[in-house]
Amino acid sequence: MAKKRKRKRLRLKPAVFRFLIYFTFFLAIGIYTINETKKIIADFKYQETYEYKITQKGYKLKEAQKLIEILPDEKLDYILENEYNEIYYNIVTQKYYLDKNFDKYIEYKEYHEDTSYEDTIAIVNVHANVGWYNETYETNINDGYLMIVNKFYHLDESYERDDLENINLAYAYANNRASSVVIENFKNMRQDIEEEMNVHLMVNSSYRPYKDQEEIYNEFKKVSLKYADSYAARPGYSEHQTGLAIDITSLEHPTANDFKESEEYAWLKENCHKYGFILRYPEGKEHITGYSTESWHFRYVGEEVATKIYNEGITFDEYYAYYIEK
Ligand code: DAL
Ligand code: ZN
Repeated sequence: MAKKRKRKRLRLKPAVFRFLIYFTFFLAIGIYTINETKKIIADFKYQETYEYKITQKGYKLKEAQKLIEILPDEKLDYILENEYNEIYYNIVTQKYYLDKNFDKYIEYKEYHEDTSYEDTIAIVNVHANVGWYNETYETNINDGYLMIVNKFYHLDESYERDDLENINLAYAYANNRASSVVIENFKNMRQDIEEEMNVHLMVNSSYRPYKDQEEIYNEFKKVSLKYADSYAARPGYSEHQTGLAIDITSLEHPTANDFKESEEYAWLKENCHKYGFILRYPEGKEHITGYSTESWHFRYVGEEVATKIYNEGITFDEYYAYYIEK
């Protein structure tokens, strides 16, 4: 008969067994407690972050993250000190937002609810929120072809470019002078449009000294101040004094009204940037330029900047405010 084999069983002593049970139990509790403590500390730390505090104000997580990405701490603190306001997020996420104007945008938007965010930014950037001619600065003539002259930036009475040249009577009416660079580029543009459409551009007006501008403005003022300020710059505030602006029509459409409806005007609007020019007072931008639209007034800024302005659909005032003045 086969002998039954005795199985050896591992028998722990009860004390050891108890120890292991207790050890496992306390180890589990310990690990749990450490993890929970870690979570509490992390939560506590998160509650100290702008992200948490801003979302607690009612902003969506994505909005809070964007605000943090764009704004410096002092602006984030300002947001936290105030009630939820959708204006803050909508303002700072605009393309041409400038941090230095934060307070002005908010103030302007609160008083002008119907003005779009885009316009609020543009108006404040170009200083138009303070009203035309209410706050004025000297034009920085060191900006060269990019010097700005508008209802906030003016030239000294004596300012005159040193590269002014007479414009040939073949393509300008009498007594026209402009920067040689402007003339050169105008000539090229004129030649190309002539070849393409058989029309002949003409310069009506170009460089105007301070005194000439004063006379023009005073003539316009005889109609009314509002009319004068819509179409003529006050002396010192005209781009014509820079020698970089020219008023254009064509032999085929010599009056401003006819020119506005002409094919050559349509061509200029689409192509003048290739020659460094921009249409300076476009339709729909009156609240930014301060002038009624002028289908004749073109300004030289150089091909690169003119192309950027054309592509972005902005005025030179907006360009200057955002890219140069900052
Ligand atoms: N017509 C433009 C605005 C000027 O007088 O300079
Ligand atoms: Zn003009």
